[in-house]
Amino acid sequence: MGRFGDDKIEEVRSRADIVEIVGAHVRLRRAGRHFVGLCPFHNEKTPSFSVNAERGFFHCFGCGAGGSVFNFIMRVEGLTFPEAVRSLARKYGVTLPEHDLSGPAAGEREAMLKANEVATEFFAHVLWNTTDGALARDYLKSRGISVETARAFMIGFAPSRPASLAKALEKRGLREAGVKVGLVKKDGAVATGGEVYDMFRGRVMFPIRDAQGKAIAFGGRVLDARLPKYINSPESPLYSKARTLYGLFEARQAISSNVATGKDRAILVEGYFDVIALWQAGFKQAVAGCGTALTVEQLRVLSRYTKNVIACFDGDAAGRKASMRALEIFLQAGLLGRGIFIPSGFDPDTFVRERGAASFAELTDKSELLVDYFLSEQAGEARGSIAERARAAQRVAGMLKLVDDPFQFDLLARKAADLLSIGEEVLRKEARGPQSGAARYTSSRFARDRAATANPPAASSGDAGAKAEIGLVALALLHPELRNEIAQSGAAANFEEIRLGGVLADLCRTDEAYTALEQWTAERLSAEEQGRVSEFAVGPLTDDLGDDTQKNPNELEKCRALVNDYVVALDRRRRAHELGRLRQSASEVSARESEPGEAAAAAQAVIAHRRQGQG
Ligand code: UTP
Ligand code: MN
Repeated sequence: MGRFGDDKIEEVRSRADIVEIVGAHVRLRRAGRHFVGLCPFHNEKTPSFSVNAERGFFHCFGCGAGGSVFNFIMRVEGLTFPEAVRSLARKYGVTLPEHDLSGPAAGEREAMLKANEVATEFFAHVLWNTTDGALARDYLKSRGISVETARAFMIGFAPSRPASLAKALEKRGLREAGVKVGLVKKDGAVATGGEVYDMFRGRVMFPIRDAQGKAIAFGGRVLDARLPKYINSPESPLYSKARTLYGLFEARQAISSNVATGKDRAILVEGYFDVIALWQAGFKQAVAGCGTALTVEQLRVLSRYTKNVIACFDGDAAGRKASMRALEIFLQAGLLGRGIFIPSGFDPDTFVRERGAASFAELTDKSELLVDYFLSEQAGEARGSIAERARAAQRVAGMLKLVDDPFQFDLLARKAADLLSIGEEVLRKEARGPQSGAARYTSSRFARDRAATANPPAASSGDAGAKAEIGLVALALLHPELRNEIAQSGAAANFEEIRLGGVLADLCRTDEAYTALEQWTAERLSAEEQGRVSEFAVGPLTDDLGDDTQKNPNELEKCRALVNDYVVALDRRRRAHELGRLRQSASEVSARESEPGEAAAAAQAVIAHRRQGQG
């Protein structure tokens, strides 16, 4: 399941000493079978952070953070799973396969990356060293881009001849790979014997790189203004537009060097030239979508590097509108997001060039939280008629629905109620339904689905239910022996968090050990959920099991009992919901005071359901 191969991941994991790795960040002391210390993920005075060296897990009983040695590195260094594997592999001298894949797809992927690399070098060569490139060199100069900047972004030029790159790729046996990544296209005509020709011709080329700096796609800007301004690479196994940010590789270094001082931020713009001009002006944290409207996925990627994202919008009415659409996307990605408005007639590129870096810095200093902007807009409308005010309140409730973080939600609900002079409780209720804590184990990606759920659970059963859901996933992950029973129980169908139910169902279909599922897990569970898993793995601090910890029969029996508890809890919750719905329809029927027969039948249904529940 892993892209390095499970045995490679397992090798890194077994060689990595979790006590040493954690010990580099936390002063640990031995306490029985555990090592304990002060948690690096929250502020505390007495240690609730524990490392179980035998099982290779850490867990904080204070804030719930936890996981394996990979999760620890991911969290303290802000890395993705593959990056964490690579970093530990380097440290412990494990050689990983060069291409990040195993299996038959590996060679193909490698060839596609190679084709893009060859193309990047080819385009750069044409730009700097050929007469064909002269026009493009002049063009870049006219747009104020220095040679140093152009080289940093590996800008190049695709010559106008029909098949220059195609030949270069063919020579290296990369013809098919070139077709797959959209650099060259096969001629449909049979007569030509399936010749290939270049997709990018007479264009200034911007390699789009992944976070590791590898070219995965290209954007090409035309010099001849009669043709479409930009051509971009199509989607490919290497390139998903919706997940990619132009400039992230360059910006990522600038962002992480500021994390320590808390001055980390990213600047989100629209175009290639905006990123490059800002970079040259000293705003090295600029990134852009790749010719798509902003996506939640792009922001999620960005939020791994910084939570402080400033988006640039046009200063006109369309820009204001765009900022409101962006707010929704930010909230769904778990970010608040700030915005700045570039004066009409400029884009960030032209603005920073004509008005200077200081003026742009002034704009970013004045950046406003997008939700503040949204709220003040709504508050303006809320001075109108009752109907207008109600509509504004509905819009605010709709926005609040997207906020997953309970603290952010709380602060925003207060502020919004105040600004709009509406009842705070009504607003909260409209935005969250009767219970407010049920989204606890819900990652914001699913907040929207959840918000759309018609019948949210009652507060207490919601909490117990959420706990049971993640508990079952944790137990199934850690104990393959229990998966069969869990599958038989049918509990997955009672999950409210659909995504987790899917994770559980998938788990029940495999008999892989936890270690082989680590990457799979890291990519499916939130940090908080991973923390619950580690809680089961680390065990209570007083826990004193025998040596054979993995297979201790007592432990397995304890876990089996827990599985049973959780299955029962989920079943109880489902029945409580059904009862609630039946009651509701019974009271609706009696409120209509119509058909007595209907009312009686509804009452009967409630009673029958209760009996069934007791049985
Ligand atoms: P813009 O039209 O604002 O272009 O599109 P720009 O980046 O400012 O380019 P210049 O300054 O006119 O040379 C913004 C972004 O939208 C995408 C590109 O990513 C571009 O940078 N785009 C635009 C396309 O993908 N295709 C197009 O035809 C136009
Ligand atoms: Mn522009």
